[in-house]
Amino acid sequence: MQYGGPEVLEVVEVDEPHAGPGQVRIRVRAAAVNPTDTYVGTGARAEMQKADPPPYVPGMDAAGVLDEIGDGAETDLAVGDHVMAIVLPKGAHGAYAEHIVVPAESVTRVPAGATDAEAATLPMNGLTARLSLDLLALEPGQTLAVTGAAGCYGGYVVQLAKADGLRVIADASPADDQLVRDLGADVVVPRGDDVAARIREIAPEGVDGLADGSVQNGLLLAAIKDGGGFATVRGWSGPSARDLTIYPIWVRAYLNEQAKLDRLRQQVEDGSVTLRVAGTYPAAEAAEAHRQLAAGGTRGRLVIEF
Ligand SMILES: NC(=O)c1ccc[n+]([C@@H]2O[C@H](COP(=O)([O-])OP(=O)(O)OC[C@H]3O[C@@H](n4cnc5c(N)ncnc54)[C@H](OP(=O)(O)O)[C@@H]3O)[C@@H](O)[C@H]2O)c1
Repeated sequence: MQYGGPEVLEVVEVDEPHAGPGQVRIRVRAAAVNPTDTYVGTGARAEMQKADPPPYVPGMDAAGVLDEIGDGAETDLAVGDHVMAIVLPKGAHGAYAEHIVVPAESVTRVPAGATDAEAATLPMNGLTARLSLDLLALEPGQTLAVTGAAGCYGGYVVQLAKADGLRVIADASPADDQLVRDLGADVVVPRGDDVAARIREIAPEGVDGLADGSVQNGLLLAAIKDGGGFATVRGWSGPSARDLTIYPIWVRAYLNEQAKLDRLRQQVEDGSVTLRVAGTYPAAEAAEAHRQLAAGGTRGRLVIEF
């Protein structure tokens, strides 16, 4: 097994999977490229993956056409429907594939009017944003700060928080200021290592909750009021010297939350959530998509098409 940069991505033949009991199969047309996908190739997951034989297929988001329904799968979807799914990759099982088999609860319809590429940008990060907000459990009118707000996760947090009736303070570089305002942030502060102080200038008492899409961890604690909550997305869990609740967010907790995934679909259809595709690549050029992601500054999601 060779680990490395984007160049280790290659097209391989794998056995065609079939839907088992409770599962459905998707003929994948689009798979989003997420930061986590790059860890499969670098070897950052080597310890976790060693029980599974290579090849390793990355990818946590798929959209395409439902083409098999397994026995007893509880779904109102039919073969031929355009669907999107969250995927938990394991070994040769990942969304960068022509076919993927997933639990029926991981799947819902593609939002009306959305392409498969657009839909593929939603399940994993939309559910992560939803989980963050559910754990922070703020009431309408309370204040949430969001960092990395121009990013995929941060952008969905901003939009879902506004739909939940929260006041949102978000960070942005000057180039992204308008983008983050357009996502619905009430106040935009400059991003950077001193962003906690910038947030405190807007909310002197501190914010009720903070969702850390920029992965700045402890640098952000000072923005949060005593008793507030902090959602972190790369496993950081403190310490905090103050009375704060830190929630390490792991989206796999929502793998089978079909109603939540379907609610995201509805929120796209009603205009409260927007889908952003930064570019599309044929499967054979997946390495190029990873190079583009690694270069930084991508706004919206890169998508691999099959
Ligand atoms: N735990 C889970 O279940 C889970 C699920 C989904 C995502 N995640 C994690 O969540 C993080 C965000 O994912 P994403 O897809 O939203 O990534 P993304 O689209 O690249 O967004 C990250 C944003 O943060 C910005 N940023 C990076 N460093 C920053 C800093 N020091 N200060 C301010 N802004 C900074 C980036 O700007 P530049 O592009 O200019 O660098 C970008 O706008 C990733 O680490 C991802 O792995 C975890």
